[in-house]
Amino acid sequence: MTKHSGRRVFITGGSSGIGLALARSLVAQGAHVAIAARGAEQLERARAELAAEARGDQRVEAFVLDVSDRVAVSAVSAAVLEALGGIDLLVNNAGITHPGYAWELDDEVFERMVQVNYLGTVWVTRAFLPVLMEQRSGQVVNVSSIAGLMGVFGYTAYGASKFAVSGFTESLRQELKPHGVGVSLLCPPDTDTPQLAYEEDLKPVETKALAGTVKPMSAQAVAQAMLDGVAAGRPVIIPGMDGWVTVWLARHFPWLARWVMDRMIRKARA
Ligand SMILES: NC(=O)c1ccc[n+]([C@@H]2O[C@H](COP(=O)([O-])OP(=O)(O)OC[C@H]3O[C@@H](n4cnc5c(N)ncnc54)[C@H](OP(=O)(O)O)[C@@H]3O)[C@@H](O)[C@H]2O)c1
Repeated sequence: MTKHSGRRVFITGGSSGIGLALARSLVAQGAHVAIAARGAEQLERARAELAAEARGDQRVEAFVLDVSDRVAVSAVSAAVLEALGGIDLLVNNAGITHPGYAWELDDEVFERMVQVNYLGTVWVTRAFLPVLMEQRSGQVVNVSSIAGLMGVFGYTAYGASKFAVSGFTESLRQELKPHGVGVSLLCPPDTDTPQLAYEEDLKPVETKALAGTVKPMSAQAVAQAMLDGVAAGRPVIIPGMDGWVTVWLARHFPWLARWVMDRMIRKARA
């Protein structure tokens, strides 16, 4: 028995990267896990892999879902509750990125970031709130980013949508605490996933310079940090020392963080 045995967990974006690593870890620890994503083939591959690791009556389910589609979210959340027999942990992890200079990005990029990263989190959370509040237990984890806590060159569209996730989550935590439901915000640093690989060619040279030589964390390490943070009831979970120090510096010495970043950007441009 582990502390996750029998827990019912729904992870959006569970077919890849951090979401899949989290699903693997929870299945290995005996949880009932449902995952969701848009791409049916990759989702089925993930489901089959997880199901092969499940033991006994452990449930592993998968749902094709675009979290930005409010009507679909409503239908799938009902199906998840039916399939798992309830919910103990909801992880709003589905997300997309598209770095670039603010003046070069298409309008559509700004819209899509908000629709998927922010509103996708809002729709899924709100769909499960009645059940979580009624049972007076359970936890919600919303996945933001370091770029959702401080400004980062090249992430005007992505960062703004993740700031929205951070703001939503901070307020939600206060609202749900009296109802016995925990809320945490996960802010990963660069993590070695398909999303990081996707954005590599899109990043402005200045963004690459800021990322510098810091080695990305593994998806498993970020997933473990999430589980540890949730177990400890942490409202904000920042995996890894580098990310934690960066956020601490930006929060307590914002003038210094801006000076360092502006200097790195000037050097990169030169
Ligand atoms: N990797 C990093 O460096 C990093 C850093 C900070 C924060 N994050 C955040 O961590 C989360 C996970 O990222 P990751 O790096 O693990 O990315 P990933 O490997 O690309 O996985 C993203 C997952 O989200 C799903 N997804 C994307 N759009 C969706 C939508 N509209 N509806 C439902 N599912 C959707 C993807 O499947 P489909 O494409 O098939 O839908 C996939 O399962 C994201 O919120 C990301 O912004 C990542």
